[in-house]
Amino acid sequence: MEKDLSKRSIFVVDKPKSSIAESFKILRTNVQFALKINDPKSILVTSPGEGEGKTTISSNIAASFAKAGFKTIIVDADLRIPTQHKIFDFPNEIGLSNYLNGECKYHDIIKITQIENLDIITAGLIPPNAAELLSSKKMPELLKLLKETYNIIICDSAPINGSRYSNYISSCRWYFNCSECGHYKKG
Ligand SMILES: Nc1ncnc2c1ncn2[C@@H]1O[C@H](COP(=O)(O)OP(=O)(O)OP(=O)(O)O)[C@@H](O)[C@H]1O
Ligand SMILES: [Mg+2]
Repeated sequence: MEKDLSKRSIFVVDKPKSSIAESFKILRTNVQFALKINDPKSILVTSPGEGEGKTTISSNIAASFAKAGFKTIIVDADLRIPTQHKIFDFPNEIGLSNYLNGECKYHDIIKITQIENLDIITAGLIPPNAAELLSSKKMPELLKLLKETYNIIICDSAPINGSRYSNYISSCRWYFNCSECGHYKKG
């Protein structure tokens, strides 16, 4: 079942002068220097549990890299509860799952967002065999292809703890664990 969240802000775009946008810029700069991004990098945004900020952080850090001039793509690899298509306002009929199960080709799944330098691969329809798809050899092959075009690839993911959806983790060399970043408080 898909999460029913109302439209979320991409703070670095919608509220660029806010303190949270500033925090994401600092985070992006730290990641940039830590990884020395002079060749393409894929980063998996992950955490042990649900609701710890993976989706919020991955969309904002991707937008922040794009705004800084890096050719960026965000990949919604959370085939459990896909959310990125809602944040970036895309339909989700075709995406990562369809590519991995051979239903469509690379160019069918790349979508251009309204943010300059930022493309997206939505999750696609939720498949019954998500774990098998994510751990198939097509996942590292896709990342390799993406590295020919993009400076940075940000992958949103399902939680690691007890998750059968995170088998593809070995495909990404770099991890960002957002479990220590805290939670939003409403109101
Ligand atoms: N626009 C918003 N307003 C209020 N709370 C929000 C908003 N967007 C996200 N949240 C909350 O922020 C927290 C982090 O959400 P997020 O979806 O980024 O986490 P996640 O780690 O991706 O979750 P999941 O494991 O379910 O994929 C959650 O508690 C979520 O309910
Ligand atoms: Mg999420």
